[in-house]
Amino acid sequence: MEAKAKVIKKETEEFAQDVIEGLSQKQKTLPCKYFYDSKGSQLFEDICELDEYYITRTELSLLDSIKQELANMIGSQATIIEPGAGAGTKIQKLLSALDSPKSYVPIDISEDFLNYSKEKINQKFPLLEVQPIKADFTDKVHWDKRTTESNRTVFFPGSTIGNFSPTQASKLLSNLAQLADVDGAVIVGFDLKKSVDRIEAAYNDKKGVTAKFNKNILSRINRELEADIDLDSFQHEALFNHEESRIEMHLKSRKAQTIEIEKQRFEFDKEETIHTENSYKYSNQAFIELADKAGLKSEKHWMDKERLVSMHYLTQN
Ligand code: AVJ
Repeated sequence: MEAKAKVIKKETEEFAQDVIEGLSQKQKTLPCKYFYDSKGSQLFEDICELDEYYITRTELSLLDSIKQELANMIGSQATIIEPGAGAGTKIQKLLSALDSPKSYVPIDISEDFLNYSKEKINQKFPLLEVQPIKADFTDKVHWDKRTTESNRTVFFPGSTIGNFSPTQASKLLSNLAQLADVDGAVIVGFDLKKSVDRIEAAYNDKKGVTAKFNKNILSRINRELEADIDLDSFQHEALFNHEESRIEMHLKSRKAQTIEIEKQRFEFDKEETIHTENSYKYSNQAFIELADKAGLKSEKHWMDKERLVSMHYLTQN
């Protein structure tokens, strides 16, 4: 039989490396960006529809009530840059409120996603130029100053900032500030600190969608790295960590076991966990201090009536 040359994509190799590195640590960990393959992105969309998961729907309605004010602050002929462009609902609200926006720059690692987003936005906003950038926004995006549009504003909603530690988050904010014009804004939406019960419920939904989302990272390892992890031998866990002001998601091994990935073996004690995600919750004051470390000033912020989420309009000091 002829040996079939195995084509290993660069992305798969990086995934394998990150998985092996994460599982080799004392507290086993996996980077949360790997949740979002097509299955995981669909599961995340399902999470957004859950009763317990208030973030998405609350931010959407907050955006409805403040979009005109944001549009006035941003001004006309704007270029809106969106790192990790989501399903596109939020950006459409902002774009329709703006006075003759000039261009929209979605930044995403998924080419399929960018193409889809370009088509959708082109249809609804025929006069707007869409200039997608295929990049991981956590790497510094190379933005050639000489060819940039004027009046650039960065739009970063969805509480994605919560996935980063405060140190990483302020670094990320200062990178985002470099994408914006000197007098342009960085608009950030995040989840406010609130009662532990409310937060924990949002990550432990009754239907078990979040558990599926969490476990999808293991099925992705099985699919893409040809491993054979028994998904039922891991249990979803989400607990609020007070000291760090973050909800942590873990996958807890129900038994002592060894799993094998790319010929490497990883031993688990019973109840040992893989830490899969952090989602930091900030007060407005804590967020203002974080932005300050990134050289950004919070000009104004808005909250929904229940004070569940917050959106800040940041400008450069
Ligand atoms: C997309 C990062 C905002 O942290 O709430 C949802 C991801 N994780 N349920 C969040 C997530 C579990 C979500 N963010």
